[in-house]
This record gives sequence, C-alpha cells and structure tokens, in this order.
Amino acid sequence: MIYDLIVLGAGPAGYIAAERAGNAGLKTLILEKNVVGGVCLNEGCIPTKTLIYSAKIYDSAKEGKKYGVVAKEIAIDHEAVVKRKDSVVRSLTGGVKAKLKKSNVTIVSEFGQLSGRVSDGYRVITEKSAYIGKRLLLATGSTPIIPNIPGLKEGLKGGFVLTSKEILDLKTIPQSLAVIGGGVIGLEMASYFNSAGSKVTVVEMLKHIGGDIDPEISEILLKNHKKKGIEFRLNSKVVNIGDKSVTFESGGETHTINADKVLLSVGRRPVTDGIGLETIGVEAINGKIKTDDRGKTNLPEVYAAGDCTGRFMLAHAAYREAEVCVNNMLGRKDIMRHSAIPSVIYTNPELASVGCTEQSAKASGIDYETATLSMKYSGRYTAENEDGDGICKIIFDKASKKILGVHMVGNYSSEIIYGAAIMIEMEMRIRDIKEIVFPHPTVSEILREIAFEI
Ligand code: NAI
Repeated sequence: MIYDLIVLGAGPAGYIAAERAGNAGLKTLILEKNVVGGVCLNEGCIPTKTLIYSAKIYDSAKEGKKYGVVAKEIAIDHEAVVKRKDSVVRSLTGGVKAKLKKSNVTIVSEFGQLSGRVSDGYRVITEKSAYIGKRLLLATGSTPIIPNIPGLKEGLKGGFVLTSKEILDLKTIPQSLAVIGGGVIGLEMASYFNSAGSKVTVVEMLKHIGGDIDPEISEILLKNHKKKGIEFRLNSKVVNIGDKSVTFESGGETHTINADKVLLSVGRRPVTDGIGLETIGVEAINGKIKTDDRGKTNLPEVYAAGDCTGRFMLAHAAYREAEVCVNNMLGRKDIMRHSAIPSVIYTNPELASVGCTEQSAKASGIDYETATLSMKYSGRYTAENEDGDGICKIIFDKASKKILGVHMVGNYSSEIIYGAAIMIEMEMRIRDIKEIVFPHPTVSEILREIAFEI
C-alpha cells in the first residue's frame, strides 16, 4: 500500500505530524509498537505530573496550618495515586487515538523498520506487512541512558534499580530511594517520593542541580528541596551499584549509601538503532538524526522531529518541529526557531526558564544586563506562599534593551513562562512590557514589576 506519508513513532512529534498531515489531505500511516502517546503520555510528562499534583495537595494539607486550615489524618495513598495516573493516561492516549482517526490517519500497532528505497518512495516493513511512503517522518523518540557502571545491569535486572518508566508503577513507596542524577527527571521524582514518605538521597555529579539552569535559581531550588528533607550529594559520581547500595566518588573519597530502590536518571538518548536508517542512508551523528531547521534530513522527502534528533528532548519542542516538517512537506515555508523554547521543572516550587542564561549570553559574546526581583513583589504570590523565596530574573541586551532570557522559581512559573517566550520571540524591549496590561492579582505581574524596576 502506498501512502503520501509514513510516520515512524506515535509520540508527541509523530502524532502531531500525522494529525496535521491527515487534516491537510495527505494519505497518512503511523506506525507505533506501543500505545500511542509515546514517552510523554505513557511514562513521562503526564504520568509524572499526576503524581506530583497529588504530592502538592498532600504537602498543602500538611502545611495548611500556616493558612489557617487544620487538616487531620492526612496520608498519601500511593496505590490510589497510581490508579488515578493510569486513568489520566488512558483518557489522554484515547484522545490522541480518536484525533488521529478523525484526521483519517491509519494507525498500525506494530514496530516499523525502514527497508530501502523504491521508485515510488521509501519501503517500510513490519512483521506482518510492507508499506511504501512517498514521504517519511522519523519520530522514534528517546530512551534512558544506561551508563557503564559496574553492578548497574544486574541492579536493573533484579528490580533494585529503576528507570523513569518502572518507577511510575511501583506498588509501594520504598523506605529509602537513591536518585542517580539531579537533572529534570531526578528532581521531579525526588520531589514526589520525598512527599510520599521515602528518605530520598540525590547523587549528582555536578556541583549544582537542574543542569543548565541559572545558578541562582538552582541554588533556591536546592535550598527548598533540602528544607523538605531531601538529601543531596553534589560533586558526586556514582561508580558502583551493589546489593541495596550505591557507591560514589566525591573529592577523591569513596562513599556508599544504602537504599531500598534506586532511580537511574542520567539523561536520555535518541532511539535510532535498529530502525533501518542505513537501508536508505539517513545521516545520523552519534545516534542523533541530522536535520536542518525545516526538519529535513539529508534525503529528499525524509524528515525527522522530536527526541530522535537529540536537540531538545522536550515534547513541546517536538510538537512544533513536527508542524514545521509537515508545513514543508506541503510546500509552505516554515522554519524551527530555537531561541525561545521554554523549559520547566515541575517540582514544588516550580522552575521555568526561557531564552539565554547569563552563561549562554556570555558565550555568545552578548553585552547584556540582568535584573532580579523577589516573587514577593507579586501580591498573589505573597498571598499564596507563606515562606516563598521565589525570584524572577531577566536578561536583556544592554544597548537595545531587548529581552533575551527569563528565569523564574516559584509556583505558577510554568503557566507564566510562555508569556516570556512570546516577549523573546517578538523581540520585545523592556519598555514594551511596561505597556502591557497584566491581570491583577496574578504572579505573572512579576514581569511587569521587574520591567519597572529596570
Ligand atoms: P538530565 O540530563 O536532565 O540530568 C541528568 C543528570 O545526571 C545530570 O545532571 C548529570 O550530571 C547527572 N549524572 C550523569 N551521570 C552521573 C553519575 N554517574 N553520577 C551522578 N550523576 C550523574 O537527564 P534526565 O533527568 O534523565 O532527563 C532526561 C531528559 O528528559 C531531559 O533532557 C529532559 O529535558 C527530559 N524531561 C523533561 C521534563 C520536563 O520538561 N519537565 C521532565 C522529564 C524529562
């Protein structure tokens, strides 16, 4: 059977591309070996947010006294939390399936593999069938990195070590949890399991948590998490996994901690092995499919989007990349802009960030200035955060006063950051922000406050 477009993988990049292509009239086939929705819906963004929301409610109830609310006998029922998570996931994956059907997309629930070029296009095979696509979109996603640490493979096999996938289905809360890697996944899961009652220790190789985030923001996040009881071992590299133990090196010394379970969260890598890239000659560098800013690979009519390109590993970036690919397939000019992709860590408090950090501005030789303001300048924030120590930091071009980056820690940041992304995309200056009317009282007003401070 010949299709106008064959999409490999039904995660955020794949399902959005298929939906847009189907709606535009392209005869579209999508191949997915698991449930549609990819890591994001099934074992990433959405399930983790349901868990984290339960923890937030629990924490709020525990801290209710500060707000004049006294709750008794509060407990997290982890089994009920997981059950609810499963039902949210089912509802959303069902929604994706329905949308694909509505867009006339054919869904085949099988593993698809590229299998050479033919005169009409590209051949894709599954265990049961073979298809031809005039165009291809590769959207095969990513998988956790499994580093070469002695004892790790055995730990994974025996169920002592879990990745971000298996930890979501734990039936009970472990008494103690060691988290390897203090990046996005490590922090979000540490936040949930700490609230749910585990003694959590995060072992992070770098001297700070949260990866490339602004150092001042990272420091506040660290302080908040420590206050909640999470232990951090920074500058500490895990070198061995034993029987219920994790060994790490720090400052030339070796330490061992015991734990009931271990979460391995040291990054993700693109899934590009075994999908037959070599059969048609798609160029990949270190396992990342090489694309230009229109999503095109080195081959005509072969596109790639999402985690398999190794660029962002973020669902929202994947959505847009997918749309750019489909627009270009349809002959509409569209390019992917990378300067204002927001990122969020959904811990309590939340952290959100978009655009340049001081570090990246320096590296690009930009003459910049910064301004930082306590979130307490927002009336809403003060009303809702008794001991809140959130901040908002803005980075702007010294001469033109154009906004280059915004970094925030404090709740609702995740819902505000898109506004900052628009400001960067639209090349707005500080004085432009002053002319915007923000709803009052909202935490978003912090952006207006900071503009006036400058
Ligand atoms: P990450 O790259 O964010 O963090 C991994 C951390 O592990 C790094 O800080 C690294 O220094 C540390 N590390 C590596 N080897 C180590 C060792 N041997 N010992 C101690 N520390 C070690 O990766 P993570 O957290 O696994 O997330 C993967 C991807 O998933 C990220 O790229 C992220 O963008 C995406 N993601 C995004 C979310 C969001 O947008 N909220 C949520 C979850 C995942």
